[in-house]
Amino acid sequence: MSDSPVTHHKGEANNNSPENATNEQKAQMEQAYAQMRRKLRMTQLSEKIKHKIMVLSGKGGVGKSTVATGLALSLAQQGHKVGLLDIDITGPNVPKMMGLSGQGLHVDEGLIHPAVGHLGVKVISMAFLLEDEDTPVVWRGPIKLGAIQQFIADVEWGELDYLILDFPPGTSDEPLTVTQSLPDIDGIVIVTTPQEVALLDSRKSISFAKNLNVPLLGVVENMSGFTIRGKVEPNTKVELEAPGGKNVETMADEDGKWSATLDIFKQGGGKDTAEELEVPFLGALPFDPGVVRGGDDGVHRIVAEPDGESALAFSNIVTAITEQLSEENEPGINII
Ligand SMILES: Nc1ncnc2c1ncn2[C@@H]1O[C@H](COP(=O)(O)OP(=O)(O)OP(=O)(O)O)[C@@H](O)[C@H]1O
Ligand SMILES: [Mg+2]
Repeated sequence: MSDSPVTHHKGEANNNSPENATNEQKAQMEQAYAQMRRKLRMTQLSEKIKHKIMVLSGKGGVGKSTVATGLALSLAQQGHKVGLLDIDITGPNVPKMMGLSGQGLHVDEGLIHPAVGHLGVKVISMAFLLEDEDTPVVWRGPIKLGAIQQFIADVEWGELDYLILDFPPGTSDEPLTVTQSLPDIDGIVIVTTPQEVALLDSRKSISFAKNLNVPLLGVVENMSGFTIRGKVEPNTKVELEAPGGKNVETMADEDGKWSATLDIFKQGGGKDTAEELEVPFLGALPFDPGVVRGGDDGVHRIVAEPDGESALAFSNIVTAITEQLSEENEPGINII
């Protein structure tokens, strides 16, 4: 009879004591400890970062990275401490837009330190792992998801007011891994363009977001309308032929200045979808050729023209988001 309060079955005591563990068991224990440490860090991280916002879309190329970067810069412009986590391993879009092309990862005492981009925004991008910008990383599923967890847990963000997370397109595993790893995500912003096909995809991403069990902050309509300007004789009528053969009329002011917004795609689609699906509409961003140039030369439109049309549109969207987050009740709609 043993005095120990723990009853062991015959021969089991040896197997359970750490000294006698096989290499395989030791490796498993090491893995379990690493998981626990990571979980603990994620909880601490969650306390140091006040708000976390995910940017998603159903379809590729609708402007997620442009919107994620724009939101980060606009929040920074309003005086917040901001981080931007780019989870897309297929290309270096975010580093390019933040003027951080060719940047590598800086690791100190086991922690990854973010690069500092425009307006002091701290940036971590999976693209920092690329050997060269034109060679995308091809990772098998589990390795990729493990890397994402590490990127969340092992980054020394410091204290942040906002962390914006940019994702690859579609309803893949990445958003799920992030919501399972990082507690207290405030909400999801869905980016769409006014095109019908993109809208169908944004419907898909709205139902995907519902399944993630994270509040939906709302929909942003990107590339909505293109504004042109000119000068003629004061107070004269200007007639334009818009895309699709539609005529647009506008009046020049007393200095002869005029402007007109042309719908490149069908306009207002994002607003209609948002209403139909009872999701807040956060605002529309104009089609702005400067945004494309910004993506190419590393100077985001908000930085190049802080009082321009795009910067203003971003600041309105940021206000719509921050107002929701500061409301006492739960942000967005919480569908379970
Ligand atoms: N409002 C805009 N006006 C003009 N061009 C834009 C606008 N928004 C995005 N673009 C351009 O469209 C292209 C795609 O944008 P972006 O990379 O942000 O999309 P994405 O949804 O992140 O793409 P992916 O699905 O590949 O991650 C880029 O060249 C970008 O400069
Ligand atoms: Mg992108």
